[in-house]
Amino acid sequence: MFNQHFLDLPPLLSAFGSVTLPGSKSISNRVLLLAALSEGQTWVHDLLDSDDTQVMLDALEQLGCHLKKEQHSVCITGLGGSLQNLSEMTLFLGNAGTAMRPLCAALSLLGANVTMTGVQRMYERPIKDLVEALQQIGASIEYLQDPGFPPLKIQHAKINICAPIEVRGDVSSQFLTALLLALPLVSQDSEIQIKVVGELISKPYVEITLNLLAQFGVHIKRDGWRSFTIPQGSKYISPGQIHVESDASSASYFIAAGALSMGTETLKILGLGEGSIQGDIRFVEAARLMGANITMGANHLEIQANQRQLQGIDLDCNHIPDAAMTLVMMALFAQGETVLRNIGSWRVKETDRISAMVKECQKIGAEVQEGADWIRIKPIAQANWKSASIKTYDDHRMAMCFSLAAFNPDGKTIRIEDPRCVGKTFPDYFETLFDLVQTLGDVVPVICIDGPTASGKGTLASEVAKSLGFHYLDSGALYRLSAFVATEQGIDLDVSNEEQIVELVSKLSLRFEGASIYVNDREISQAIRTEVVGMNASKVSAMPRLRTALVDLQRSFKRLPGLVADGRDMASVIFPNSPLKIYLTADAMTRAKRRHKQLISMGISANIDILYADLKARDDRDMSRSVAPLKPATDALMLDNSDLSIEQSIEWVLNQWRSKNAA
Ligand code: DC
Repeated sequence: MFNQHFLDLPPLLSAFGSVTLPGSKSISNRVLLLAALSEGQTWVHDLLDSDDTQVMLDALEQLGCHLKKEQHSVCITGLGGSLQNLSEMTLFLGNAGTAMRPLCAALSLLGANVTMTGVQRMYERPIKDLVEALQQIGASIEYLQDPGFPPLKIQHAKINICAPIEVRGDVSSQFLTALLLALPLVSQDSEIQIKVVGELISKPYVEITLNLLAQFGVHIKRDGWRSFTIPQGSKYISPGQIHVESDASSASYFIAAGALSMGTETLKILGLGEGSIQGDIRFVEAARLMGANITMGANHLEIQANQRQLQGIDLDCNHIPDAAMTLVMMALFAQGETVLRNIGSWRVKETDRISAMVKECQKIGAEVQEGADWIRIKPIAQANWKSASIKTYDDHRMAMCFSLAAFNPDGKTIRIEDPRCVGKTFPDYFETLFDLVQTLGDVVPVICIDGPTASGKGTLASEVAKSLGFHYLDSGALYRLSAFVATEQGIDLDVSNEEQIVELVSKLSLRFEGASIYVNDREISQAIRTEVVGMNASKVSAMPRLRTALVDLQRSFKRLPGLVADGRDMASVIFPNSPLKIYLTADAMTRAKRRHKQLISMGISANIDILYADLKARDDRDMSRSVAPLKPATDALMLDNSDLSIEQSIEWVLNQWRSKNAA
């Protein structure tokens, strides 16, 4: 994941291919709580791995649930409806409303003594209606800062259910959901009735709650959307195993990307379809109203590129509060204006989403108006799109939505600030998007870094790549592995054997995963780092036909969001149009000392004077050789790092990159 403050998205043309999305956040956190309240073990498969599910898992573990994790599954041994650990504790719940609300309800009924905290934004998200509903039946819940908002202190108290419990339904449906999930805990003596006061919003999320409760053996009776009854003696019964479907809200960005695509291809979303229990699946209907061409299968969706031929709509979006944000982005590309109504709940989400949407849409050139619970968007004419730096307000959906602005027809770059906020529900969102998109023109940036041996270019290049979220090409590794494999096959590394070496290398199956390199499924990253392989690599790298054979492979590393390429001819031959070329140097004695330190730390004995002499000889050979000699590209920036720490060198390169982009 990116380690940076922003991510620049180049103009995008289309998105096609096939994608499986992470599990639904709403289902994941409800299922985790239900499994924790049940008796015995529940295997939860395809669980979303994100910030919000992590805080829930941490909280459940603190409360005494035993967790066993495997790749995309977790096995929870539940509490069986009572808390073993009644000692005082503090639960940190980040900004996860889907953890704070139901845990507040469940813990106050279970007689826990807990303080529930979170990030600052959590303290601005109302919880009063839920607290008041629970106080009606005797729960002891205290506000520790502002009345009506977390943090909360819950203390053991006697619960006494008599009259129907009233809860407001028009601020957040999560209050009702919290009660529905928790009240079966205290239903031993009588049935429990919940009455909704005011018009219930976001009904589809309540449907998810009811559906999942039924899967855990609790069958709620309901009278329209006004009254819900939990039968006497309800008990959570684990289904043993449960699969979490792909997140329908996350799917909205890919549905929009498919619809905004030029060309004739399709984008297929797997793991979500007609059978979905998520309300946001109805985003499909809204997108169709705007003109998107979507086919729905039992467990997949297919979106046909339709050249951005969308039309504006006027829609009540109460049933799709989260995915409706994506409609705002589609509206920017449509014919005619769009009005989205009944979206008041946006104001109490991760940020005030109505206000945030208006501000950021205006930055990219849109005319947008807001009311208490509506938003009106006029499409942006082709010539009016503006490049902008989009603030994301620590709201994952703001970041994902505005990535769609990169499909603008005028080739404008969109900067997403704090791109890591997508971690709340979709940590790999941008990587997933980049795997599917084609850019408008040759716009994937490449930074080239070269320099003499032991100048530290490899470390510098890989660290710069990491902080920008770029891919990394260590081109020297390709010559090293060629030499390594050829030697293993007993081929003498003489130029007379060049053809044989080219043939051997071109048949290899190569795989690069982070810092690991696999040749025919064998990990060789460490094996090619020895001094001997380095010397042999120097021999094969002087073979012109081998160099030519490796050109396409090296260029294939140039993928979104960008590439840092390290090695001899990166700036001159492989990526001559690279916008930033760095030539790293350090005096030979400094390099010899660094190499010495490195070898000693690897347990290899070494002598500085010999290393110094070797380096000088290698520099002379590298600079004077006829094929790809070591020399700075004419437009390279020189960086002498003799007196710089690695951190200072990284910062220097990042500053060069920032100032180029600012320009
Ligand atoms: O950077 P390194 O030590 O891993 O490189 C191994 C050899 O390959 C070294 O002699 C330089 C050479 N090389 C090259 O000729 N062209 C490149 N693009 C990268 C490395």
